[in-house]
Amino acid sequence: MPRAPVGMVVAVTAPEPTGIVVLVSGSGTNLQALIDATADPAYGVRILAVGADRAGISGLHRAAAAGIPTFVCRVEDHATRAAWDEALAERIADHEPAFVVSAGFMKILGPRVLGQHVVLNTHPALLPAFPGAHAVRDALAAGATVTGCTVHVVDAGVDTGPVLAQATVEVRPDDTEDTLHERIKAVEHPLLVTLVGRAAREGITVTDGKASIP
Ligand code: GRF
Repeated sequence: MPRAPVGMVVAVTAPEPTGIVVLVSGSGTNLQALIDATADPAYGVRILAVGADRAGISGLHRAAAAGIPTFVCRVEDHATRAAWDEALAERIADHEPAFVVSAGFMKILGPRVLGQHVVLNTHPALLPAFPGAHAVRDALAAGATVTGCTVHVVDAGVDTGPVLAQATVEVRPDDTEDTLHERIKAVEHPLLVTLVGRAAREGITVTDGKASIP
């Protein structure tokens, strides 16, 4: 193998990180886990922007504190849901992400956004069990003894897209929605970080309703 002559500096350039946009609606603890992971260049991810469907949320404050650009795209500022979908797609496209991560984004994404980018979502239940906005409450109400979280690719349905990975959490007899959700988040954060990193470094393929990371 040829050697650099003595005294010559050989610059080793790391591969460019993969750019993503993260969408949030609330406290943004999943976003924070992603922000923390990006501190390591080997993780291979750069968060280009964080988008939200509402202003004033902790998720946006976390992004701003990390120096990440933010945008807000509210349904109520648009004449129709389709117009909101169009506007959100444009706001995302402005940043040219490789893919999008929905991390506690509490709106159903429309065809413009989904036609433009692969979107990964994290959901606080073991899909297909307990889809929808109250997954933790629904699991408790159903008397489930085991629940967990799912990272999946978003399709046109509500939490119906192909599953990439899941992690389980035991339901305790004295659990409330809050205590159970906190324990779910404890496994959700590392699962999301792992899947987003792998998708960024290795790529993600979605064909015929199936998703895979090589
Ligand atoms: C997460 O549990 C996510 O699965 C669900 O909402 C929660 C968002 O939490 N859709 P955070 O905003 O990341 O703290």
